[in-house]
Amino acid sequence: MESIASAPGKMILFGEHAVVYGEPAIAGAVNKRVTIKITKSSTNSSIFKSDDLGFEAELNTRNKRYISNRGKPGIIKYILEILFRFHDHSPIVIDLSLDIPIGSGLGSSAAVTVSTLAALFNYHGKKFNKNYLAKKAHEIESSVQGIASPLDTSVSTFGGLIYLSREKKIFKFTNKLQSSFVIGYTLKRGNTGKMVKSVRSLKNRYSKIVDPIITSIGEITDEAKFAIAHNNQSKFGELMNINQGLLDSLGVNTKELSRMVYIARKAGAHGSKITGSGGGGSIIAFCPTNEEKVFRSISKYDNALKVRFSNEGVIVQNRKIL
Ligand code: MEV
Repeated sequence: MESIASAPGKMILFGEHAVVYGEPAIAGAVNKRVTIKITKSSTNSSIFKSDDLGFEAELNTRNKRYISNRGKPGIIKYILEILFRFHDHSPIVIDLSLDIPIGSGLGSSAAVTVSTLAALFNYHGKKFNKNYLAKKAHEIESSVQGIASPLDTSVSTFGGLIYLSREKKIFKFTNKLQSSFVIGYTLKRGNTGKMVKSVRSLKNRYSKIVDPIITSIGEITDEAKFAIAHNNQSKFGELMNINQGLLDSLGVNTKELSRMVYIARKAGAHGSKITGSGGGGSIIAFCPTNEEKVFRSISKYDNALKVRFSNEGVIVQNRKIL
């Protein structure tokens, strides 16, 4: 039996970090995906491998341990947690492939978590829908990272451009901002769990100062929701820049991210900010015009990638998920 599932990467437009404390956020699925193939193992061991990422590891699914045969399987904690909770421990091979450049910040752990869960449930002939999948994927991320919002896992499950409300309800925008986005990234990767914990620590130590910053980010997200609904591009860009200033004040900016943010603006981006957890990783530049110039300017010093939104969420081969 072979089971294949894929899920899209995501870009967060507004509200990262604040969303962990109940504020709303806006994020979109992109046209770059992670694919997981699960097959029965021909040996007594379970294997997790990826030729795209250059690793292979032998898994002990009963005690969440592994031995590396080749390379460094960065994402393995999510796989071990999934297998520990949902697999019957029979030997399987999990093969990960992706068309997302490594380190771009789009190939989030969420896309791997969602596609692995979907492929595994399908492998076991288990019935599930997207709501159930998103819920379980969020539980896995929370358990591995210590703390996580349902934002990334919701986007990778449902696809499209979504607004996650304070009540954790998901609204899909029917109109998309008619624009291109450029992602800028360095090879210095951010660690989501570490960055979320450092913001929490700042918030605990300076709650009177940091709480209003978190609330303001929520207000920015609500304004951005209206900007999208009215296709108000200049407001959308301006809000991105304000959001960037507040992310900086939360301590998740770096010299490299800042450099890319300003290079993008100088080259004509209407707005630019960190996307995701920061501390390394990537920035997003909103380019209704000047896409090529922004792309080339970032590429001079760092890596750049043009991305588009995608309406496609998780897909299981030969099976419809509602
Ligand atoms: C990470 O992609 C987004 C954060 O807001 C964490 C989360 O929402 O779980 C930083």
